[in-house]
Amino acid sequence: MKTIIKRANNDDIKKDDLAEAGEILRKGGLVAFPTETVYGLGANAFDSEASGKIYSAKGRPSDNPLIIHIADINMVNDIAENISIEAKRLMEKFWPGPLTIVFKKKEKVPYETTGGLDTVAVRMPSHQIARKIIESAGVPIAAPSANKSGRPSPTKVEHVIDDLNGRIEMIIDGGQVGIGIESTIIDMSDKTPMILRPGFITKTMIEEEIGTVLVDKVVTARSINDLEDESYVPKAPGMKYRHYAPKADLTMFEGSIENVTKKINDLVLQDIKQGKKAGIICTDETLHCYNSGLIVSVGSRDNNDTIAHNLYSVLRDFDKTDVEKIYSETFFDSNLGQAIMNRMIKAAGYKVEKV
Ligand code: TXA
Ligand code: MG
Repeated sequence: MKTIIKRANNDDIKKDDLAEAGEILRKGGLVAFPTETVYGLGANAFDSEASGKIYSAKGRPSDNPLIIHIADINMVNDIAENISIEAKRLMEKFWPGPLTIVFKKKEKVPYETTGGLDTVAVRMPSHQIARKIIESAGVPIAAPSANKSGRPSPTKVEHVIDDLNGRIEMIIDGGQVGIGIESTIIDMSDKTPMILRPGFITKTMIEEEIGTVLVDKVVTARSINDLEDESYVPKAPGMKYRHYAPKADLTMFEGSIENVTKKINDLVLQDIKQGKKAGIICTDETLHCYNSGLIVSVGSRDNNDTIAHNLYSVLRDFDKTDVEKIYSETFFDSNLGQAIMNRMIKAAGYKVEKV
C-alpha cells in the first residue's frame, strides 16, 4: 500500500487534506495524526473491521484495547454508560487534554475496539489537528499510539514513517508533539477510581478534583517481583506487555550522582575492553561526568516536561546506532516524573540497579 503523507503547518491543516483524511476514516481506513501526547493511529471506532486493521498494522495483541478519541464532550454519550458525577468533574476539568477515562461501554461499541472488555477508554485530545480530523470523520476515532507494537511511542513524524509507512492509508505530519508521553488513564467504571497509567495529569491534580484515588500496582512497580503475585492482573491490559523497548539492552542505575556516574563510567570502560559499544542516557547536569560511550542528555534533571518531551526520541535514536548496551540514570519520581520512570522502567524490562 502506498501511504499518503501530508504536512500540516502550525496546527493548520489544508481543507482538502482534512476532507481526505475524514473520508479514509469513514470508509474504514487508517490515518496517523499528531495529538498533544504522542502520534495516534486512527480508525472508525464503531467499525470492527477498521479496528481490526489497527491490530494488524501495529502487530498488536488483540486483547489490548484501544482508546476512543472524541472531538466534542457530548460524543462520550454515544460510547459510554453510567458516567458518574466524579467522572463528569474530571471531564470538565481536564478535557480537552491528556486524560483518558475508562467507563462501562455502550453496546454499540464493538468488542474489537475494546479488546473484548465491557469497558471503554475515552479521551478528548486538545491538539487542533487531532480534533479537526475527528470532526472531519464525523465518527469517534479509536487510536492507539502510532508505533509498531513494543516500540517507543512516536513523538515525531519520522517515527511513524519508520514503523508504519506502507501499512496504512495516510500520515498527517504535524511536527514534534508537545508532551511526548501517553495520556494518564483513570478507570472510573468501578466504585473507587484507579489510575492505570501515569501521565501528564498527575494523581495530585486528579485528587484535587475528586478526592482519593487508587493507583494500579503496575504504575509503581520497581521490580518484576512486585508484579509476580499470581492473582495480580493489570487493569489496563496494555501495561502488561514489554513496551517502549529499545533494541539495545537497557539498565537504569539509582543512587547518588557520584555513585551512578562512577558505576556507568566503569561499565562503559568494561564494554569497550570487550569490543562492545555502549550508550549513556543522562541529564544536562551530569553530561560532563561521563568520559566515553555514546552520551545523550534527555534534558535538565529539574525539568520533567523536557525529559518527557525528549524521552522516546532518545530511545529511538539509539536504535539507529550499533550500541549493544544502554546505561541510564534514574529521574525524579514526583508528578510527571512518575510517568517518566514508569515508561523507562518498562523499557528497561524492570532492570533498575541500586548503587
Ligand atoms: O496519549 C494517548 O493515550 C495516546 C494518544 C494516541 O491518544 N494513545 C495511546 O494508546 O497511548 P495505546 O493504545 O498505546 O495505549 C492504550 C492503553 C493500553 O495500555 C490499553 O490497555 C489501555 O489503554 N486501555 C484501553 N482501553 C481500556 C479499558 N477499557 N480498560 C483498561 N485499559 C484500557
Ligand atoms: Mg502504545
